[in-house]
Amino acid sequence: MKLADRVNKIQPSPTLAIDAKAKALKAQGVDVVGFGAGEPDFDTPAHIREAGKKAIDAGFTRYMPVGGADDLKDAIIAKMKRDHGLEYTRDEISVACGAKHTLYNISQALIQEGDEVIIPAPYWVSYPDQVVLAGGTPVFIDTDESTVFKITPEQLEKAITPRTKALILNSPCNPTGTSYSEAELRAIGQVALKHDFLIISDDIYERLIYDGLKFANIVQVVPELKSRTVVVNGVSKTYAMTGWRIGYACGPKDLIGAMTKMQSQSTSNATSIAQKAAVEALNGPQEPVADMCVEFEKRRTYIVERLNAMPGVSCFTATGAFYVFPNFSTVYGKKTPAGKLLENSGDFAAYLLEDANVALVPGVAFGADKYARLSYAISMENIKKGMDRIEAAIRNLV
Ligand SMILES: Cc1ncc(COP(=O)(O)O)c(C=O)c1O
Repeated sequence: MKLADRVNKIQPSPTLAIDAKAKALKAQGVDVVGFGAGEPDFDTPAHIREAGKKAIDAGFTRYMPVGGADDLKDAIIAKMKRDHGLEYTRDEISVACGAKHTLYNISQALIQEGDEVIIPAPYWVSYPDQVVLAGGTPVFIDTDESTVFKITPEQLEKAITPRTKALILNSPCNPTGTSYSEAELRAIGQVALKHDFLIISDDIYERLIYDGLKFANIVQVVPELKSRTVVVNGVSKTYAMTGWRIGYACGPKDLIGAMTKMQSQSTSNATSIAQKAAVEALNGPQEPVADMCVEFEKRRTYIVERLNAMPGVSCFTATGAFYVFPNFSTVYGKKTPAGKLLENSGDFAAYLLEDANVALVPGVAFGADKYARLSYAISMENIKKGMDRIEAAIRNLV
């Protein structure tokens, strides 16, 4: 069959592919330690599950307004005010089937042939492909440990051209776990103010932040940017609700209207039942989030310590999300016990999966081949087991 050219312009999500491979091995009875997961290993809190069940029994099982039910929009408006001091109205909010779908709607509504979108690298895997699907060109700003994986105002200034249509900011960041301080966002915001492009602030890991750091997004820090910033968020990571598929955007009315129009010809509304559960997530007790954060922080500290103790490995102390992004590049050039030369992050990930039964995502998937991403959204017991295996596998290289 002759498929559309656009299919060949993008990759299937590599993170989902690794996760699927690890799950398939597990299903065959192999004891795989999977560091590939992009989702909390906790259950959706009971009160949220209850709200979903009630929604079914109360008959919230029909078509709803495309851009989200009013009670969910109101819960989002209240959350944005409560947590960020930001004011939005219902027509500045749109709800979609996850933050991924929300970002997709943004790119479809905003980007076209000739447009450039600035993406700090390492980046979340879907950003570039969504831009490409919309006909745009991703422009990467490379970062590394020297700036703790954050772009500088100077780098941003250099990347801006008359074609720049948007900048994507993701803090805390997938895959690096870095997060921007208010001062850093202010400096970036000052550069943005001199130009005219949209800022897409992907705040999906906003609540998963450690070491006593306080989250802020760029609109809080530079309020003049509100009219040209769209904040993207969702319930997947914060409330362990990845399967419920609820994400949302808060931004300029014309963009939100265009996104809703695009969505009206694709998915229609996000699932009615999940929307009711999301209302409870945002309005209900927040203790489960705090408990989850405490656990993640413990694991983060342990895994960073273990990785840094491995020969040749360096790993900065991630301050948010549930990922670490160690530099494994000193193993490149070495050979496995079977004599295979490791040349890049893909080779190293394949070696770990086959020889050590450990799954991690090679950094090349995020535009940074020296590294690999490990999610610590797995039990401490499995983290320990996985660390032991990686350490042994590295020591076995010649
Ligand atoms: C940075 C980032 N943005 C957005 C998403 C999408 O989340 P969801 O579609 O589950 O809301 C993810 C999920 O992995 C992510 O890591």
